[in-house]
Amino acid sequence: MSRSLCKSVLITGSNRGIGLQMVKELAKSNNRPATIIATARNPAASTVLHKLSRTYPAVHIVTLDVGSEHSISSAVEEVHCIVGNNGLNCLINNAAIGFSTNINSVTPEAMMRTFQVNSVAPLFVTKAFLPLLQTAAAKSIGMGIHRAAVINVSSILGSIELNCGDFKSYAYRTSKAALNMVTRCLAADLRSDGILCMSLHPGWVKTDMGGPHAHLTVKESVSGMISVLSSLTESDHGGFKDYRGQNLPW
Ligand SMILES: NC(=O)c1ccc[n+]([C@@H]2O[C@H](COP(=O)([O-])OP(=O)(O)OC[C@H]3O[C@@H](n4cnc5c(N)ncnc54)[C@H](OP(=O)(O)O)[C@@H]3O)[C@@H](O)[C@H]2O)c1
Repeated sequence: MSRSLCKSVLITGSNRGIGLQMVKELAKSNNRPATIIATARNPAASTVLHKLSRTYPAVHIVTLDVGSEHSISSAVEEVHCIVGNNGLNCLINNAAIGFSTNINSVTPEAMMRTFQVNSVAPLFVTKAFLPLLQTAAAKSIGMGIHRAAVINVSSILGSIELNCGDFKSYAYRTSKAALNMVTRCLAADLRSDGILCMSLHPGWVKTDMGGPHAHLTVKESVSGMISVLSSLTESDHGGFKDYRGQNLPW
């Protein structure tokens, strides 16, 4: 086996879609991390995840509802027991919700619920795992997922400059624009710890969220994302890239 991407990675929302494919792809990879922590709010319901963890001992399943403070702190304790003094190398904030809310259908509740899961939760999940990321960062040099990184799975739909497509989802688009600002703020705060922070757009992907007409299969998107992750360096800190490694405007 060639050199591993990193010792440990944690992915939120990994019971389906892009998160599940990340776990599959990392588990099967030649340079698989020694510890792959697949989190989901209801992992008991995912037979695929359980099968993966039986097949690949590197895969650990941890319950994590990113919208619940209690769930976040229990998950941190559990992950601490798994990674021990090595800390956590790579946190991938992938869990999100997205539904159509146009000017006629958008409600304050839809805005707040989407902000809670897509923008607020990634910040508080990161804050909670920060001591474990700092532990890992202290053991290495340079910047990248080999040391410590926070990857916020964002969307091109959150780019204010591009404002692309005619998908006028007020709640989703504003939540991803806010997530991008969370990335920038974390990047400023965590640079001195050597923790790389970036936003990553997976492309338009055939999942429950992306729908059947999306351009990419989940496999195409995730293999691109993993190749981007594996090549991140200091120059990517605080950036916004897509699954092909192209820089995106904020
Ligand atoms: N698909 C696309 O075309 C596309 C494009 C751009 C960006 N993205 C981004 O890519 C990421 C993954 O999207 P996807 O397409 O894989 O979506 P998906 O198929 O709808 O899956 C969403 C995942 O998030 C989880 N989740 C939602 N709320 C959660 C919570 N409170 N706590 C824990 N997990 C929660 C879901 O778990 P449950 O099963 O429990 O609901 C599920 O595992 C998201 O950040 C999305 O915004 C996707």
